Amino acid sequence: MNNGLDDVIATETVMSDVDGLAGRLVIRGHSLDDLAGHVGYEDLVAILLDGFFQDLPGPAALASRLGMARRDVFEMLVAGGAPDRKLPATDALRAAMARLGDGEDLDVALRLIAAPAILTPAIIRQRRGEAAIAPDPTLGHAADMLRMLHGTVPRWEAAAALDTYLVTVSDHGLNASTFTARVVASTQAGLTSAVLAALSALKGPLHGGAPGPVLDMLDGIAAAQTAEAWLEAALDRGDRLMGFGHRVYRVRDPRAEALKRAVAALFGPGTNDRSRLALAEHVEAAATSILARRKPDRSLQINVEFYTALLLEALGFPRESFTSVFATGRVAGWIGHAREQVLYGRLIRPQSRYVGPRPDQAA
Ligand code: CMC
Repeated sequence: MNNGLDDVIATETVMSDVDGLAGRLVIRGHSLDDLAGHVGYEDLVAILLDGFFQDLPGPAALASRLGMARRDVFEMLVAGGAPDRKLPATDALRAAMARLGDGEDLDVALRLIAAPAILTPAIIRQRRGEAAIAPDPTLGHAADMLRMLHGTVPRWEAAAALDTYLVTVSDHGLNASTFTARVVASTQAGLTSAVLAALSALKGPLHGGAPGPVLDMLDGIAAAQTAEAWLEAALDRGDRLMGFGHRVYRVRDPRAEALKRAVAALFGPGTNDRSRLALAEHVEAAATSILARRKPDRSLQINVEFYTALLLEALGFPRESFTSVFATGRVAGWIGHAREQVLYGRLIRPQSRYVGPRPDQAA
């Protein structure tokens, strides 16, 4: 039996469309190519939430309210009691976000969107023994997140790269975490409950937990000359190559293209060490051809996580925080879907087919 629901259409949505054969992603009517690198994350939040809140203001006012929400969340969740330092980073994020109240209104939504951008830098700094930095509501979401991580206003290219990343991962059809958000939203449990459940789905390595292991793979390979042998040995052991393959895409993941462009801008002259990018490009080419030979009936190419790993590393995020940065972008998509489910959907309650013994068959 196919347990992955691959071809099941579970809902209609105006949020996004993933065309796995053409390698195209449409978000609220816009091609990803026209969004990534062209609109800021705040603008995309306005696009994603359009029509789902009666009191949604225009993009400029929404951006300013998101800045205020960052300030409020910092007061509530960081200044008012530090995140749990004993938990792994994504679990610490989830535990802290659980302290936000639940509800369906725009204030709850904006606090949920603000929370990962506030908590991710705070949790990283806490683990380094450094004090958390309060947000600056006048900065853009991406620039402020990097400032709260490093303590200085980031250079333009860095803020632009993070903006591109957050936009690129903001929504992606009915992926596992988004479906989870919709199931929980359909019970009318509230937006915070839907987002926390989605975050739990996101952290698994088959969904949003892959970019850390992509860097582990690059570290293991270490040099271009050893790439082929390393990759063949990993596949001989039955390992999966992290950052390759996708349930829906049968061609190159369009998000990978957008991120590869953003990464290239980060590795300009005199900035990050270009040898890391060169190694990644070599591994991408080597793994694509090895996978094509070894799994000819699948089209296994890089997915969003491959260049995510390089981008977030170059921006100074430690790898244990990568899933939290993914959540920083995806949270707006989860909220759009959750609101769409509440406004236009019904309780999600599918059926299962029982294949266990019947009482009259019991020995
Ligand atoms: N490396 C090696 N073999 C692979 C890989 C891979 N990355 N991905 C799939 N395969 C093989 C798999 O071993 C299987 O081979 P066989 O038929 O010989 O047993 C075949 O392809 C089909 O695998 P599947 O698990 O049925 O395919 P799926 O549609 O469930 O896979 C996936 C999707 C993302 C779980 C998988 O490609 C994978 O595990 N990739 C590595 C983890 C990763 O990069 N995850 C991030 C996904 S993108 C993030 C997002 O959009 O949320």
